[in-house]
Order: sequence, then C-alpha cells, then structure tokens
Amino acid sequence: MSCVTTDDSEQKTLQLLADLPRVDATFGDTLYLYQGVWLFRDAVFGAMQIQNHFNHHPTDIFLTSFMKSGTTWLRSLMFTILNRSRFDFSDHPLLRKGPHDCFPVLDTCKPEDYAVTDNSPRLFATHFPHKMLPSSITDPSSGCKFVYVCRDPKDVLVSMWHFVVKLRPKELPPLSFDEVFNLFCEGVMIYGPYWDHVLGFWNAAFQSPEKILFFKYEEMKRDPEGHVKKLAEFMGVPISGQEEEDGMVKKIVEFCSIEHLTSLEVNKNGVYKANTGYIVPNETFFRKGEVGDWKCHLTEAMKDQIDRITHDKLKGLGLTIGATNEGHPMT
Ligand code: A3P
Repeated sequence: MSCVTTDDSEQKTLQLLADLPRVDATFGDTLYLYQGVWLFRDAVFGAMQIQNHFNHHPTDIFLTSFMKSGTTWLRSLMFTILNRSRFDFSDHPLLRKGPHDCFPVLDTCKPEDYAVTDNSPRLFATHFPHKMLPSSITDPSSGCKFVYVCRDPKDVLVSMWHFVVKLRPKELPPLSFDEVFNLFCEGVMIYGPYWDHVLGFWNAAFQSPEKILFFKYEEMKRDPEGHVKKLAEFMGVPISGQEEEDGMVKKIVEFCSIEHLTSLEVNKNGVYKANTGYIVPNETFFRKGEVGDWKCHLTEAMKDQIDRITHDKLKGLGLTIGATNEGHPMT
C-alpha cells in the first residue's frame, strides 16, 4: 500500500511507526497498535490527518462501523435515501459505481480529499473508533451525526476471514483460521479490539442519542423497511406519507439488497480504487449477507469463547450483540 503523507512529517511518522507494537504478515500487511487501535500504516497516517486537519460542517453525517459489520449495505442505503429525489432508480449512480465510490472513506484521506463533495449534508464513512475521531466532530455541539452499525462478532470474524483470505497476496503463506480467531479474541484485528469499538459508539449513543443512531445488522435483516424509515428520519430527510403510499421504502430496500447489488456488472467485475492506490474488487464487499454464518466455521468451543468475551465486556451496559451475550451459561 502507498503512504498518504507526502511532506516532511513523513519522516517523523515513519519513526513513530517503527516504535509501535506490530503484527506482521497475518493480515497481508503489517498492523500497528496506534492509540490503542490496530491499524494499517495508511490508516495511522489517516488518523493523524483527521485529528489535525479535518474541518467539519455541522451538517456532516458519518457512517461508522467495525469492518465487516454491514458498512456496504448502509453506504448504499444512506446514499439512496439521501438522493432519492435526485436520481431515478432506472438511471441511478449505484447502477454504474460500487457503493464504496458513492462517498469517501475518511480513513486514508488526505486533507484535499475532504472537500470531495459540496452536497449538504456531506456523507463520509470511517472505521475509526469513536475515541480516535477528533472531538471537534464527536462533540454533540458540532452538529455532526453518526450512524453506527454493529454485528455479532462471530459473523464479523468469519466475514473478515473470507475478506482477508481473498485479498491476501499470493506470495504469503496460507492463513490459518485458528490464528486469526486467537488474534481476534485478543483484540488484534484491523481497527480492533472489536469490543472497544462497539462500546465506544454504544456509550456515545447513550449520551447523545439524537446524534448517534445505533443499528444492529441482525435487526436490519429482520426489518429493513423499519430501518430505512429510521435512517431517513435521522438523516433529516424523512419518508413522507405520499412516498410511503408510493412504495418508496420497499423500492429503496430492494434496490440496496445484496441480491440486487450483486447482480450488477459493476459489483461483479468493477473495482474500488482507494485514494492510497490500493485496488479492491467490488465483489469482495459482498458474500452471503446472512445472520449466523459463523455456524459453518466455528467450533462449539470457539463460539463459547467469543460469547464469553462478549458477555463479559458488555455486562451491565444494556447492549446485547448476537443472541447469546446476555445470561451466558458459562457465567
Ligand atoms: P458476509 O461476509 O457475512 O456475507 P462490510 O460492508 O462492513 O465490509 O460488511 C460486509 C458484510 O456485509 C458481508 O457479510 C457482506 O456479504 C454483507 N453485505 C454487503 N452488502 C450487503 C447488503 N446489501 N445487504 C446485506 N448484507 C450485505
């Protein structure tokens, strides 16, 4: 991957990287522990850029998530909801470009990329944990809003595993699922630890529910139409009675469904070119899109281990993820 910094600060940041704890090769590239978060080096630079140079607009809306929690789905939904009066479904940008090209990911942006769009509200996506985002945007007085999606960590792990295996450079030795499982449980995962990530946004949403909309992937799957309505309301573009009568909510859900998006040529053969130069085939952002696929990959002992950690981390905080973290039988 290429580096996002170009100036003399690069020397300093390279020195900083050299002093950070690291995990080499497992995830294809080195992961560094920066400010308590495991990041690829471009994201370390990206975090510094955001913390020092991001100028928010009070109307900005951020899509926030741990990787493999449903970001691609929400990207499509947020873009489609916001622009539903601009674009007809028969001639829509999402028919020609992948969800990742609809609005930028902040994590590897250079300051000049922040001004990508004059639209108001501006949409940005980020996987940075809440604590890593500058207080200028997380402070409720900023006006900025956040949509967070979380997902059962067992499904996140399995989804991440498939993603990493697909993108892994061929010259590296094959990846062992057991190794990735153990690292995940220890918190060593891209943007991890997973549980800190979820709790950072959960606690912030508890403090400022009007600024942070907290979704669960499993609940979205159960009731996509209800979530579309909540999203539209939260984003300041509520679905009108007339739109509801005209079937707009259903149309948005169907348009952004994994079945529809994966049927499009752009998501079969197109690629996403990150501003770092890194190229990711669009098809890698889609797989099964199911709840509970972990059952095909995790042993009973692995399931218990993750459920136990989840239960212990979330105990007493009013959040349940996956079905089993409340009242775990082992506690
Ligand atoms: P699986 O690997 O379990 O299938 P992210 O977008 O955060 O990287 O998450 C990727 C996961 O979301 C993948 O899960 C992917 O299949 C699923 N996904 C992508 N688009 C989706 C959609 N439109 N609806 C539901 N799930 C979707």
